[in-house]
Amino acid sequence: MDKIVSLSRRRGFVFPSSEIYGGLGSTYDYGHYGVLLKNNIRSLWFEAMVQERDDIVALDSAIILNPKVWEASGHVSGFTDPLIDCRTCKLRFRADQLEQSHCGRKPSKHPGEWKECDLTEARQFNLMFQTQVGALEDESSTAYLRPETAQGIFINFKNVLQLARRKPPFGIAQIGKSFRNEITPGNFLFRVREFEQMEMEYFVPPAEAERWYRYWIDERFNWYVKYGVRESQLRKREHSAEERSHYSSGTTDIEYLYPIGWSELEGVANRGDFDLKQHTEHSGTKLEFVGDDGERYTPYVIEPAVSIERIFVAMLVDAYDEEVVADRDRTVLRLHPAIAPVKAAILPLIPRNGDMVEKARGLYDELRKRHIVEYDDGGQIGRRYRRQDEIGTPFAFTIDDHTLDDDTVTVRDRDSLAQERLPIGAVRAWLEEALERPWRTPKA
Ligand code: GAP
Repeated sequence: MDKIVSLSRRRGFVFPSSEIYGGLGSTYDYGHYGVLLKNNIRSLWFEAMVQERDDIVALDSAIILNPKVWEASGHVSGFTDPLIDCRTCKLRFRADQLEQSHCGRKPSKHPGEWKECDLTEARQFNLMFQTQVGALEDESSTAYLRPETAQGIFINFKNVLQLARRKPPFGIAQIGKSFRNEITPGNFLFRVREFEQMEMEYFVPPAEAERWYRYWIDERFNWYVKYGVRESQLRKREHSAEERSHYSSGTTDIEYLYPIGWSELEGVANRGDFDLKQHTEHSGTKLEFVGDDGERYTPYVIEPAVSIERIFVAMLVDAYDEEVVADRDRTVLRLHPAIAPVKAAILPLIPRNGDMVEKARGLYDELRKRHIVEYDDGGQIGRRYRRQDEIGTPFAFTIDDHTLDDDTVTVRDRDSLAQERLPIGAVRAWLEEALERPWRTPKA
């Protein structure tokens, strides 16, 4: 994980937030390549979940909802973690994760293991961030930052059913920020307090719930494989009844082998009719499906839910590679070309050569109309290649002496380091075809 954090920082993917003020624990800002990587993850999720399907529509609900939503959903009473304070070192721990926590004293021990440790009894701590709506600070103005995007979908069920004229099975997909006052955030972006969720609620006839639950576990698993995550580093893990959330009658985690061990990347849950029934009861608005023949029922909900942050870390970890080439160390991000922040680099071999620069800028201007590409004329060519390797750019086009003679360029493949020559006029079509090709990581 340290190598991933360091590369992210060095190459401007992710910065610790508010750094000039000493930071704010486990809060991050995204730099240029981080933004591009996130954009790709977001749009490939949207493509698979909405664009390529007839049965799912999009939604963008508010972050601050009527607080009654969170009473109905069970979050006000039940979205809690057990918390323990240490009166000696003043640190806070999750009571159910003492084995994974470290006391503030050195050498490192678990809380409670030093004789000076003075731990309080566990108490329940609600993870929702509270805020005040309007100028008055009283109980009636208390509201919450959403801890999940899902509830915004349930409360819009009727709107979509009527206006998008849908009938089960159909889904509503939403991408947006969620907030949780995690007691022990950490492991880089893996557990943060502010993260971007991508959730889809799929409404089905109750008798079909089990089938769709299995379907969505497979669909989502295959999405990761399609975008280059090694299958050997992914697994499905079904929750036991004790582990499941209050609303769930079946949950399977798609886990990734992060540097911290197998951990949840995405969850797929069968939420039954819990949410629509709760909101029907609390709001007085019937959230059910009524068919043309008068058939009526409350649909069951199957929910694949993930954050961009967890995918971001999994993809960087999976792509990170080090090798020695011609006696030199090379660090390379072997990202799927569709995920890579920059699709191609355009490099004039000799940046002082005006003719080379003109050709290179011409190619750059042509390619940037369709793709995120980068013009790079800073430093020796070897250094420029290494920089592009570290940000995962799959292809580099170099403009050299030959280009001035015969209008061909060299294309270098990030993974194999193979080079071939192409007519400059064919580069755009070549790149488009290369980006469409199926890709598998050469990493073991
Ligand atoms: N609507 C269901 C729900 O929110 P969850 O398992 O609590 O379920 C869903 O969260 C996904 O959101 C997780 O699988 C994970 O990908 C992501 N997630 C949850 N908490 C997170 C955090 N503190 N930081 C980053 N991602 C988080």
